[in-house]
Amino acid sequence: MESDLKKHWDSAYGNNEITKLGWYEEDPKPSLQLIQNSELPKDARILNVGVGTSKLIDELINLGFKNIIASDISSAALDKLQTRLGSKKNNVHWVVDDLTNPSFLSEIDPVDLWHDRAVLHFFTEEKDQNTYFSLLKKLVKINGYVIISTFNTEGATTCSGLQVHRYNKDMLENKLGPDFKLIDSFNYNYTMPSGDTRPYIYTIFKRF
Ligand SMILES: C[S@@+](CC[C@H](N)C(=O)[O-])C[C@H]1O[C@@H](n2cnc3c(N)ncnc32)[C@H](O)[C@@H]1O
Repeated sequence: MESDLKKHWDSAYGNNEITKLGWYEEDPKPSLQLIQNSELPKDARILNVGVGTSKLIDELINLGFKNIIASDISSAALDKLQTRLGSKKNNVHWVVDDLTNPSFLSEIDPVDLWHDRAVLHFFTEEKDQNTYFSLLKKLVKINGYVIISTFNTEGATTCSGLQVHRYNKDMLENKLGPDFKLIDSFNYNYTMPSGDTRPYIYTIFKRF
């Protein structure tokens, strides 16, 4: 049966133009900068969780990355992203799954990069955060990277009508544990299509 969470996100994507969404990013520059700094090879397995309709996928394909996995709870989001990509969608592996109750994602091969922009902060219950981090730890290879960007502790308390849990780098370090070393982090003020700003924190960790 379809969960209320899936219905929420399918309707957000189904009822709105992508470019009007409160998290729409024309240029995913901060993520790209971190990915380029990590010097991953073009055959690296890159898992983008809660990808929505992110332009990061278009950019990664254009940069020549060949092993991209795009995942989201919302099939409506993935449909729209596939439509935008046209034939380039065949360069991507697609997974509809719920990060708080993963089935398909727990079965995929390990990845070189886990990328999350604006997803983790929706998990306000500790059990859902624990599920998210257990999956991450199961999937990220040794020497692999984790990029997490969330609302920072100065950020908004809701997004898309849902409560959020905000983070600073220490909180993310605690959740990831000693096997993950923080390589870089910075605050970033994202400007929404409405012109309002939302303070994010970007972090990149390497697994040892
Ligand atoms: C604010 S949007 C960010 C989308 C995208 N990462 C971006 O930067 O444009 C949050 C995304 O997380 C997805 N999402 C929310 N809860 C999820 C869950 N439990 N499992 C997987 N994806 C989820 C939503 O469908 C949505 O695409």
